Amino acid sequence: MVVRLRSLILLLSISLSPLLGRSQICESGLGYCDSDSRLSSKILIKGGTVVNADHQEVADVYVEDGVIVSVKPNIKVGDGVRVVDATGKFVMPGGIDPHTHLAMEFMGTETIDNFFSGQAAALAGGTTMHIDFVIPVDGSLSKGYEAYVEKAKLSCMDYGFHMAITKWDDIVSKEMEIMVEEKGINSFKFFMAYKGSLMISDELLLEGLKKCKSLGALAMVHAENGDAVFEGQKRMIELGITGPEGHALSRPPVLEGEATARAIRLAAFVNTPLYIVHVMSIDAMEEIARAQKSGLKVIGEPVVSGLVLDDSVLWDPDFITAAKFVMSPPIRASGHGKALQAALSTGILKLVGTDHCTFNSTQKSFGIDDFRKIPNGVNGLEERMHLVWDTMVESGQISVTDYVRVTSTECAKLFNMYPRKGAIRAGSDADIIIFNPNSTFHISANSHHSRSDTNVYEGRSGKGKVEVTIAGGKIVWENEELKVVPGSGRYVSMPPFNYLYHGIDKADENYLTSLKAPVNRIKQSL
Ligand code: URP
Ligand code: ZN
Ligand code: ZN
Repeated sequence: MVVRLRSLILLLSISLSPLLGRSQICESGLGYCDSDSRLSSKILIKGGTVVNADHQEVADVYVEDGVIVSVKPNIKVGDGVRVVDATGKFVMPGGIDPHTHLAMEFMGTETIDNFFSGQAAALAGGTTMHIDFVIPVDGSLSKGYEAYVEKAKLSCMDYGFHMAITKWDDIVSKEMEIMVEEKGINSFKFFMAYKGSLMISDELLLEGLKKCKSLGALAMVHAENGDAVFEGQKRMIELGITGPEGHALSRPPVLEGEATARAIRLAAFVNTPLYIVHVMSIDAMEEIARAQKSGLKVIGEPVVSGLVLDDSVLWDPDFITAAKFVMSPPIRASGHGKALQAALSTGILKLVGTDHCTFNSTQKSFGIDDFRKIPNGVNGLEERMHLVWDTMVESGQISVTDYVRVTSTECAKLFNMYPRKGAIRAGSDADIIIFNPNSTFHISANSHHSRSDTNVYEGRSGKGKVEVTIAGGKIVWENEELKVVPGSGRYVSMPPFNYLYHGIDKADENYLTSLKAPVNRIKQSL
């Protein structure tokens, strides 16, 4: 850990340190400073291979005032422009993580990464935007929204919100309209698990799906059969299995497959698009593949932990070592991850998230005597870009352009931010990474930027390294140093009716025609 701060900056750092944990902050890192050329509003990235989801070419990229102005070879600039040499490196859109939980109150505690430390970690790993899940307060969407607006005041990069729906009545229905029409939220998540807290019934899910459709919002589901999970948990406790392995044993893949199939069928019944978050098993992935084959608009999101880890870690004799891997749906037996990678490479699964939901060892210890009390969640915001590269590109499973698609562009398109986000082209936000494919990354809790004292990818290294991150037109990560300012992040408003909605109205018309009903019968007196 290198923290080098002086005089006034030292004072400021004392108040910020609980926010950021063990980050490296450069000397002038607590405020933008004109004398620092890294904070120039004019940047020229020279000679790199610019990669978009559909094309790659050697070109320069010129950035001014937070926006990409030009992308072409041999751009000439005058004085006052910071020139960054990217020869031999990839220049790509910053990552967008579709699935995070910063400062979330959950299972009797709150995730250890807030909107500052989580985003600082993200930036150090090449992610320049994320979409976090607002959790309603006592079922109220507006109270939940206000709480997250407060939490997000610490932001140092761009972010958006999804919103969870945890109860149903006319007020919730009306608030969904307000969230979409006035607050820039275009997606709602329904938890089919977490019985007794966040879980919803099929009846509520149906109401929610109908409402999402009427608003052009994307319905998302956490797909596990919560009633059966509850039963599985009781069974494990009765068998005397109270440790972290009980978590995996109590909620096997069949329960994820069942809920995925059910959610898909209900969305098909309503004829509305569906997004399955954190697909962890072959069972769920195969349901998604089957649905897509039959023409349904179903998106599957794997998360990094599901792609690269296996459940053997949950049997570790050391409680904390095992408990840090507890998340839901659980990390599966080896074989599932490889199948999810293959599904990502063939396009069955479309974009990679993290479900970053970090708890430290003390918090994980709440479940020392009962796995049901271990707060569910793992890290990944800082590691996603490196691990997806190493696992998918270095292994030859996807191309560099596909890498951009699954880590950034698809998310921008699904949540209606493209091409402002997810592209290196004139007019797009200057959220850019310079990636050296010949360097290496190393992961450790000793050097990561999360506030957690553990990392589920501890000790991993691999090929490829995010050497520079530019967010909102500023160089925020360079030479292993972060330059981040709480409060500098912007909320990104996301409009409804993404591309999945194209054609939905025609399908509805065809459905109505196909009914051949009501039949006009002549009433005869008997
Ligand atoms: O274990 C997890 N996934 N924690 C976060 C909450 C959720 O289900 O997404
Ligand atoms: Zn979930
Ligand atoms: Zn989640």
